[in-house]
Amino acid sequence: MKDERTRICPVELANSLDSKIRRWLQNPKKILNPYVKEGMKVLDVGCGPGFFSIELAKMVGKSGKVFSVDLQEGMLQKISNKIKGTPLEGIINLIKCEQDKIIVPEKVDFILAFYMVHEVPNKEILFETLKNTLNEKGEFLIVEPKFFHVSQKEFDLTIEKAKAVGFKVTKGPKLPFSFSTILKNI
Ligand SMILES: C[S@@+](CC[C@H](N)C(=O)[O-])C[C@H]1O[C@@H](n2cnc3c(N)ncnc32)[C@H](O)[C@@H]1O
Repeated sequence: MKDERTRICPVELANSLDSKIRRWLQNPKKILNPYVKEGMKVLDVGCGPGFFSIELAKMVGKSGKVFSVDLQEGMLQKISNKIKGTPLEGIINLIKCEQDKIIVPEKVDFILAFYMVHEVPNKEILFETLKNTLNEKGEFLIVEPKFFHVSQKEFDLTIEKAKAVGFKVTKGPKLPFSFSTILKNI
């Protein structure tokens, strides 16, 4: 039986990930502003319906690139519907991955994994893959949901696994109902 804590968020719940109240509590521009600049190549891993991918694309602009990666085709379809016929179509690259097999065609300067890591059973493989995808001196922001999904102990264990593949662990932004950290590829 699948562990409740690594259960994949279903496409039917995608709308709840893109609500006005969430935008107010977790404003994507405010959260990403310290890390993302125009022209950067960025990866939104476990992008879901694109709450962060869309803002990332606006921030990196035409000279940048966003790779939005998800296990579920239905999530990617949601993003595709949102950007169809807009300039963001030329910036966002949608990539369907498999469990433990994420292939991004280029190295990136910044990675975001928002409310995603706890859904991945093998975090060691995930972190190794992402370390190899991140440019030297690149930054990787992990945000995980407190309370029902992830305990302090589980989050600490996750961070230990990131350290074990060679990431340097630094402080992340303070966000409501969430744990966060910035991993650096030194
Ligand atoms: C709770 S949603 C969060 C979506 C988005 N990051 C956000 O904050 O709005 C988690 C997403 O991670 C995706 N996911 C889970 N495991 C994954 C994996 N191993 N590789 C890629 N995506 C994964 C799920 O399909 C789902 O869309």
